[in-house]
Amino acid sequence: TVLIVDFGSQVTQLIARRVREAGVYSEIVPFQSAEDGFARLQPKAVILSGSPASTTEETSPRAPQAIFDADVPVLGICYGQQTMCAQLGGRIEGGLHREFGRAFVEVKRASPLFDGVWAEGTRHQVWMSHGDRVTALPPGFEIVGVSPGAPFAAIADEARRFYGVQFHPEVVHTPDGAKLISNFVHRIAGLSGDWTMAAFREQAIEEIRQKVGRNKVICGLSGGVDSAVAAVLLHEAIGDQLTCIFVDHGLMRQGEAEEVVGLFRGHYNIPLVHVEAADLFLGALEGESDPEKKRKTIGRLFVETFEAEAAKLGGAEFLAQGTLYPDVIESVSFTGGPSVTIKSHHNVGGLPERMNMKLVEPLRELFKDEVRALGRELGLPESFVGRHPFPGPGLAIRCPGAVTREKLDILRQADAIYLDEIRKAGLYDAIWQAFAVLLPVQTVGVMGDGRTYEYVCALRAVTSVDGMTADFYPYDMEFLGAAATRIINEVRGINRVVYDVTSKPPGTIEWE
Ligand code: XMP
Repeated sequence: TVLIVDFGSQVTQLIARRVREAGVYSEIVPFQSAEDGFARLQPKAVILSGSPASTTEETSPRAPQAIFDADVPVLGICYGQQTMCAQLGGRIEGGLHREFGRAFVEVKRASPLFDGVWAEGTRHQVWMSHGDRVTALPPGFEIVGVSPGAPFAAIADEARRFYGVQFHPEVVHTPDGAKLISNFVHRIAGLSGDWTMAAFREQAIEEIRQKVGRNKVICGLSGGVDSAVAAVLLHEAIGDQLTCIFVDHGLMRQGEAEEVVGLFRGHYNIPLVHVEAADLFLGALEGESDPEKKRKTIGRLFVETFEAEAAKLGGAEFLAQGTLYPDVIESVSFTGGPSVTIKSHHNVGGLPERMNMKLVEPLRELFKDEVRALGRELGLPESFVGRHPFPGPGLAIRCPGAVTREKLDILRQADAIYLDEIRKAGLYDAIWQAFAVLLPVQTVGVMGDGRTYEYVCALRAVTSVDGMTADFYPYDMEFLGAAATRIINEVRGINRVVYDVTSKPPGTIEWE
């Protein structure tokens, strides 16, 4: 085990992720309970995270002294490096040389931390984010790397196996960072890299059982990967104490509702309430063309429907959600600032408070690609696990203007053909999200010898890492031509296809 002491950095989970990627199990413990955590876990290595705090203040958090006395290797990152230095007899100064963003570290000395990655005398890009810095080393330490703003960018006490870096090896902007962390856990701490998603699964199941006991759990399924993986994991842990509720709002893609129901009832035999609420949702949306009102109507009806079904089941003590780590960070940072609502996002948020239930969120520490790996581990089909994200309000926001059944049918057909072409061309996994949009505009065309007057279909495809920014996908024209031809030939109601070449920003990924 690697113990990660969390001093409150925004990216502590990324450290855990890098350790997992190196095939080693880790646990994050907040600094307040680090002493107990250290005694309980008896870790083979410790990593001290960054922090918004400053070691130059009296009250700032410290690492337990026991960690430095136990003959285990320690890696201090940013604040972690500073507190290690301060506690072992070095000096830290605040303020003057703030350094944020990209910087270059020059390697001054070989170290096991750099083995096979960075050679002596070379320079490497790293990511810095600090106000304070080390100005005098504790006894036993030496400098192994420098940067213009941090003369102690990387330090080591090789005898005691204590390492400190001012930069952040856990973020992707430090391109070799993952390898440095891998060196720390493998070469320096001597841990083997045999921990896998299978181990995560076992452990998550154990934790769910501990938490839930004999109580009942309700889980909302959206048709997406996250809630599906959470549900299957929960079912493995607690069997029929779990009931899933799938609110089918009639705004799913072609075949999607059937697939969810078939998979959960048929394949996994998980108790599932399938609420067919298309009439309710489409009725309420009738004539509504304002994007925010559409979103709010769908969100409100979803919560009401979910609540009513949960009440019919006689309630439950726990609500399970497929919350991922990025959802956690985003909701934290979004509540802080005066951010503007671009779109009212619809998910299951808001439910737990209204329903007075406790939460189980077994995926809370994972990132999207890790959830996919866990889904594969649990035997979910590839078509489910690898699928593009799909928004809660569904096709309603891909049908600008008022939504009708007729338009939804047309859109579903066009979307299915488009995705089929993408899969056949082997492009599905290279694209973050691809979908068709049905515009509320009709244009004139000619088919055979006749005049047509039908809808325009817009195709969208973007690349992205997190959905926050995106670029349009640069198809070759031949692909676009072929997809457009098939859509126009096969879908009644569409006689023109256009491709959306807007990035985000200034556009958003969805059209509403
Ligand atoms: P936008 O359109 O804001 O979308 O650029 C960014 C990502 O979020 C998805 N999206 C949603 N997901 N509920 C969701 O769960 C929503 O209300 C919602 N709206 C947009 C969108 O598909 C893209 O992946």
